[in-house]
Amino acid sequence: MSNTLFRTKKIEQSIRDTEEPEHALKKSLSALDLTVFGIGVVIGTGIFVLTGTVAKNNAGPAVALAFVVAGVVCALAALCYAEFASTVPVAGSAYTFSYASLGELPAWIIGWDLVLEFALGTAVVAVGWSGYIRSLLDNAGWHIPAELGGRDGAQGFGFDILAAALVLVLTAILVLGMKLSARITSLVVAIKVAVVLIVIIAGAFFVKSANYDPFIPKSQPVEAGGGLHSPLIQLMFGWAPSNFGVMGIFTAASVVFFAFIGFDIVATAAEETRNPQRDMPRGILGSLVICTLLYVGVSIVVTGMEHYTKLSVDAPLADAFKATGHPFFSGVISFGAAVGLTVVCMILLLGQSRVFFAMSRDGLLPRFFSHVHPRFRTPYRPTILLGVVIAIVAGFTSLSELAELVNIGTLFAFVVVAISVIILRRTRPDLPRAFRTPLVPLLPVVSVAASLWLMLNLPAETWVRFGIWMAIGFVVYFFYGRTHSRLARGEDTPAEPAAPNGP
Ligand code: ALA
Repeated sequence: MSNTLFRTKKIEQSIRDTEEPEHALKKSLSALDLTVFGIGVVIGTGIFVLTGTVAKNNAGPAVALAFVVAGVVCALAALCYAEFASTVPVAGSAYTFSYASLGELPAWIIGWDLVLEFALGTAVVAVGWSGYIRSLLDNAGWHIPAELGGRDGAQGFGFDILAAALVLVLTAILVLGMKLSARITSLVVAIKVAVVLIVIIAGAFFVKSANYDPFIPKSQPVEAGGGLHSPLIQLMFGWAPSNFGVMGIFTAASVVFFAFIGFDIVATAAEETRNPQRDMPRGILGSLVICTLLYVGVSIVVTGMEHYTKLSVDAPLADAFKATGHPFFSGVISFGAAVGLTVVCMILLLGQSRVFFAMSRDGLLPRFFSHVHPRFRTPYRPTILLGVVIAIVAGFTSLSELAELVNIGTLFAFVVVAISVIILRRTRPDLPRAFRTPLVPLLPVVSVAASLWLMLNLPAETWVRFGIWMAIGFVVYFFYGRTHSRLARGEDTPAEPAAPNGP
């Protein structure tokens, strides 16, 4: 039994699969496209919405340090991702990488986990987008009825019609083809980065140094009864639950981590990249470095413009300008945020459909989903299925319930990828690696520890929800994937021990 659960898919076989014409995606992306893609998805709800919440509740001005902590955790993971992406240039991201190194069951677990990350991430961002649009419409005097404005403000029935509509429109765009999507992406990324730069540059003139005092607010106890809402680490060690202080920075980091989600999606586009060996690492690391610098800049400026206790939790960047008497900038920022979130949503949806596509191509999910469109060459079936499901989830769910669940799923994927780097170096030392993670095994081990640390700083209830999702995944695998997988049916050759000559 353990032999079948840990059967691995040979890397050469993964690459050959992508060359079957009926299952092949078009190779059209360059390093620049990938970087734009990365920035396109990374800058979003995290910086535009969560900065205010986290500064107010967990870290004060030290939210800038939380971004640095989360950025370092991501950079460590990125160095591991980059080695895998440049070695196994096949759709599916961490899923494919772990199939080649850890085996089928771990690959299934990671694929199932990525579904959680991308699908719920799309829903979270769509709901955030809808909030910004509603606020812009309100300014223009148009009010959406409360029942169609989402679950949060509604009494009884509440469906976020704007969030659902956004997901459906983006689904249609993705079905029409990658190139069209990439072009729209570039334009929107330019607008989004411009808005972030406006916040940093214009905002710098309104900073008051008094607002940085104290930079790291003193630790404060949380009222009793926090229970499952408290970070797991506080419950595990019986610490009194608290906010702010040094621990508050880590709690904040585990939340603003959401702002970095997406750089790993660049890796999911490996199969559609012209020269993945060279361009993948550049795309992943490039977008990560640029985003970290922008986040630190934005959070320092915003907490300097307004005292952290007064920051808004819905639209902190725009409202900081309103508070300093500059409504024009505030309007521009709201508009840019709404436009920017559109692309974040689209790329998360894209990453999601690609993982699903790869899993179905391997037979772990029905093969029906792995046919590309005869004309557009896109995996239209999973794109449409997931688009509809996510639109419904986005319509009926509130933002805060899901963001932390997305984070835990992503951090878990980081852990698996880092472990896979070490394993693959041992089992397949012969494979050519265009990018090699430095300091193996030390760096991947530190990456695992760092990701686990952030996971432990997430609320206990998030762990419970994550456990339930993964348990459902096990049931699906044992009742479907295990017997339907192409490896199980002997359509692929299982991995052999390392051969002295590479492909
Ligand atoms: N990183 C993306 C965001 O902040 C998902 O919205």
